[in-house]
Amino acid sequence: MDIISAMQQRKSIRAYLAKEVSRRDIEEILSCASLAPSAINLQPWEFIVTYGDEKDRLVRRLLKARLERQVKCGPGTDRPLPERISLRATEAMAIMEPHISATGLTFNRFIEEGSCSFYGAPVAIIVVIDKIFPAIRYLDVGLAVSYLLLAAQAKGLATCPIGLIAAYNDDISQMLNISDDKEILLGISLGYADEDSPANAFRTRRVDINEIVTWYE
Ligand SMILES: Cc1cc2nc3c(=O)[nH]c(=O)nc-3n(C[C@H](O)[C@H](O)[C@H](O)COP(=O)(O)O)c2cc1C
Repeated sequence: MDIISAMQQRKSIRAYLAKEVSRRDIEEILSCASLAPSAINLQPWEFIVTYGDEKDRLVRRLLKARLERQVKCGPGTDRPLPERISLRATEAMAIMEPHISATGLTFNRFIEEGSCSFYGAPVAIIVVIDKIFPAIRYLDVGLAVSYLLLAAQAKGLATCPIGLIAAYNDDISQMLNISDDKEILLGISLGYADEDSPANAFRTRRVDINEIVTWYE
């Protein structure tokens, strides 16, 4: 698969088959992630991979923590977003809603429980950065995450980045022995898509590039 096709075909997958992903495939995808560029080649990203019993243990803990803390999904901003931006989320939710309803859960419950359980994917990856790095280095980690998602796509695997889990940093750090000097940035589910699930039967849209690009000619 060429890179443009991988970009065009990738989408976040929120229901997975109970089919294992080989360690070799995981390693290859992570090797591709590590090919991402980074400022002065610092490679500030770190990946913690859980699968099998360890992933199940992590999921149980996150689902329990969710019930105790009722974390809601949202943009994570202190101030309200300008309407032209918040409308993008409103529109995405409107596209997702009918499909999510077909799973029998409400939208919020599906996303919040689903995110905590990595949507049942066989592999859960936790992305961390050493706190010594300034926030600008999150950009480098984001590039590596993009490489990871696209490498998975090229190999016929599916992913969903999961920001919601960062609300449970303490639980995750404790379970996976992640030291205090690491910041948990993101979770990523990895596995084979359940193509028959209504949860995967939609694609979000993007704004026209004229809305996001300024040209000087
Ligand atoms: C940083 C980040 C955090 C995200 N967090 C979540 C999440 O917690 N739960 C979830 O279901 N999807 C999450 N997503 C997936 C987005 O909802 C998705 O990327 C967006 O709607 C665009 O859809 P697409 O990935 O299918 O193109 C996240 C994506 C990113 C990049």
